[in-house]
Amino acid sequence: MNQPVMGGVAAVNAPASVKHQKLINWVAEIATLTKPQSIYWCDGSQEEYDRLCQQMVASGTMTRLNAEKRPNSYLACSDPSDVARVEDRTFMCSAAKDQAGPTNNWTDPTEMRTTLHGLFDGCMRGRTLYVVPFSMGPLGSPIAHIGVELSDSPYVAANMRIMTRMGQPVLDALGSDGEFVPCVHSVGAPLQAGQKDVAWPCNPTKYIVHYPETREIWSFGSGYGGNALLGKKCFALRIASNMGRDEGWLAEHMLILGVESPAGKKHYVAAAFPSACGKTNFAMLIPPQGFDGWKVTTIGDDIAWIKPGADGRLYAINPEAGYFGVAPGTNEKTNFNCMASMRSDTIFTNVALTDDGDVWWEGMTKEAPAHLIDWQGKDWTPDIARESGRKAAHPNARFTVAATQNPVIDSAWDDPAGVPISAFIFGGRRSTTVPLVTEARNWVEGVYMAATMGSETTAAAVGQQGVVRRDPFAMLPFAGYNMSDYFQHWLNMGRKIAASPAELPKIFCVNWFRTDAAGKFVWPGFGDNMRVLKWMLERIEDPSGVRVGGVDHLFGITPRYEDVNWDGIEFSREQFTTITSIDRDAWIAELKLHDELFDKLQQRLPRELLEVRAKLEKRLMS
Ligand code: GTP
Ligand code: SPV
Ligand code: MN
Repeated sequence: MNQPVMGGVAAVNAPASVKHQKLINWVAEIATLTKPQSIYWCDGSQEEYDRLCQQMVASGTMTRLNAEKRPNSYLACSDPSDVARVEDRTFMCSAAKDQAGPTNNWTDPTEMRTTLHGLFDGCMRGRTLYVVPFSMGPLGSPIAHIGVELSDSPYVAANMRIMTRMGQPVLDALGSDGEFVPCVHSVGAPLQAGQKDVAWPCNPTKYIVHYPETREIWSFGSGYGGNALLGKKCFALRIASNMGRDEGWLAEHMLILGVESPAGKKHYVAAAFPSACGKTNFAMLIPPQGFDGWKVTTIGDDIAWIKPGADGRLYAINPEAGYFGVAPGTNEKTNFNCMASMRSDTIFTNVALTDDGDVWWEGMTKEAPAHLIDWQGKDWTPDIARESGRKAAHPNARFTVAATQNPVIDSAWDDPAGVPISAFIFGGRRSTTVPLVTEARNWVEGVYMAATMGSETTAAAVGQQGVVRRDPFAMLPFAGYNMSDYFQHWLNMGRKIAASPAELPKIFCVNWFRTDAAGKFVWPGFGDNMRVLKWMLERIEDPSGVRVGGVDHLFGITPRYEDVNWDGIEFSREQFTTITSIDRDAWIAELKLHDELFDKLQQRLPRELLEVRAKLEKRLMS
C-alpha cells in the first residue's frame, strides 16, 4: 500500500518479509534524493497488476479495451516525443573511455553522477516510487540474475510484471544478502502540490546511463520501452554483456527457437537481427505448406543469455518472461501465433483505437477500419491517411504480453538449465547486396560476417530511418563495452568450444529483405523463412554437404535453387537468383563500409578479423 510522507521523505516501509538491509537502505537513499510522495513495494500479484491498470485508467494513462473483444487488455498512448529508444542519450560510463569504446557514448562517471544527482534531486515529487524486484531468467537458474528497479511510473511497474518474473518470489530469493543490479528510473516529471498530471509524463531531457564497473543503471526522462523497462536492454544486454565478458558467457540480442523435424530430431538455434528486423516473427514461425510434421517453438524473442555447460556446449536461456513486440505488420497471416498471444491480457502502446473499443495498426487487416482514434488521440480515416500520410499506429507501436500466452511456447522455455544451441544466425535488413542465406565456412569467418553486418535503421530507435549502418551482431546499441573486445570475446568463446569435446555451432547469415526494382520484397518471408531454416538444419546434420548441397562463394556457402524445398510455393529460379546473386561492385562498396567500422575500432580490433577481410578482398579482386 502507498505510505504517507514523513518529514518530507516517504517512509520506506518495506514489507515485513524483506530482510535485505542493503536493499532497504538503498531504497531509503534513493527516496531521500528523489523525494517521492510515497513508496510502494510490488508483490507481483494479479490483484496488484489489475489495481495498477485500474489506477492508470482513472488517471488517463490507459484506456481499457472492450472486454468482449480483448479481455483484460489496455491501450496506452505515449507523449509524441517519447516513442522509441534514444541511442544518442544512452551512455556507458566506465572509468576509462576506451572500455566503452568508439561505438558507445561515454562520459566520465564522476561527472555523470554529478549531472544525474542534479536531475534526480526531487524528480519524483508528488509521485509514488514503485519498488520492482525482478529476475532475469528462471528464479534459481545458474544463468539467471536479479535486479531491482525503482521507478515513478506505474506503467513501468505493470509492464515489468509481464516482461520479467517480478515481485515477492524475487524478494524471497534475494534473502538477506542476495546480489541485485540496482536500476533507478524516473520519468523526470515531478508534480507540485495540486498540479494535475498528464497522461504520459516524461521530460525532453533524457539520460539512459550505465555504470558497468558498479553494475548500476540510471534512466531519466522517458517512460518508453527499452528506455524505461530497465531489465531489458539496459540490464540484460548492456550490463550483462559486461558480466559475460568477465565470466565467460554471452548476453545477446537474439531470439531462441526450437525446430523439430518430422523424424523427431530437434535443434535449438539463436538468431540476432537488429531491432524491428524479424526476431519475434522468426521465433513464432509457422512452417508453410509442404513442411508437414515440422514444428517450430519459442524459447525467447529478443534476448539470449548463453553459457558453456560442463559438456562444452553452449546453453541458452531467455532472461525475459514476456514479449515487447512490434505491432505494425503483425497479422493473422504473417504471425498467427503472435496474434493468438494477444487475444487477451495485453498492454498495447501507441496503436490505434477502433470505434468498438479494440485496437488496430497498419498491416493488421488488408482494409483499414472506416474510422479510428489514432495513437495521438486524433480522428483517423483512410481518407485522412491518404491526404496527410498520417499513420494510425506509430511505426514503433508495441504490445506487451506474457510468454505463456504464446501457443507455440517451447516446453523447455522455463528450464533453468537452458537449451543447447546448434547454430547462430545473423540477419540484417538489406534491400540490396546481401544474399538470402550464407553459411560461414568456419567460426572466425562467421564472427567476421556478424561483426560487419549492416542493416537499414528502423523506427525502434529515434533518428533517421532506412539508412544502412553497421550493426555488429545486432548489438551496436547494446554492447556495453568496447566493440573490439566484444569481437575478441566471441573469438575466444569459439576457441574454448573447439578445445572441448563439443561441436562448434554453425554460423549463418540471412537477409529476408531484398527488394525488386519497384521496391517490393522479393522473398515472401515469415513462414516461408522455414525453407531457409530447413536448409540450415540439413547443413548442421550433414556438414560435408553429401545430402544437401550448396555452393562456395565469396564469403561462404549458399544453397542452389535445387537445394531448397519449394513445395507449396511458386518461386522461380529467376526470383531466387535476384535474392541470392552477388554483385561484385556492390561488394567492393560493401567492403569499404566494413573498413569504415574497422577504422573506427582500430587498435583493439582482433587481427584474425583483418585476415578474413584480406582474404575476402583477394577473392573479390581476382
Ligand atoms: P525488436 O523487438 O525491435 O528487437 O524487433 P524484432 O527483431 O523482434 O522484429 P519483429 O519480428 O517484431 O519484426 C519487425 C517488423 O518486420 C514487423 O513489421 C514484421 O512484420 C516485419 N517482418 C518480420 N519478419 C519479416 C519477414 O520475414 N519479411 C518481411 N518482409 N518482413 C518481416
Ligand atoms: C529493440 O529496440 O530492439 C526492442 C524494443 O526490442 S526496446 O525494448 O524498446 O528496446
Ligand atoms: Mn530488441
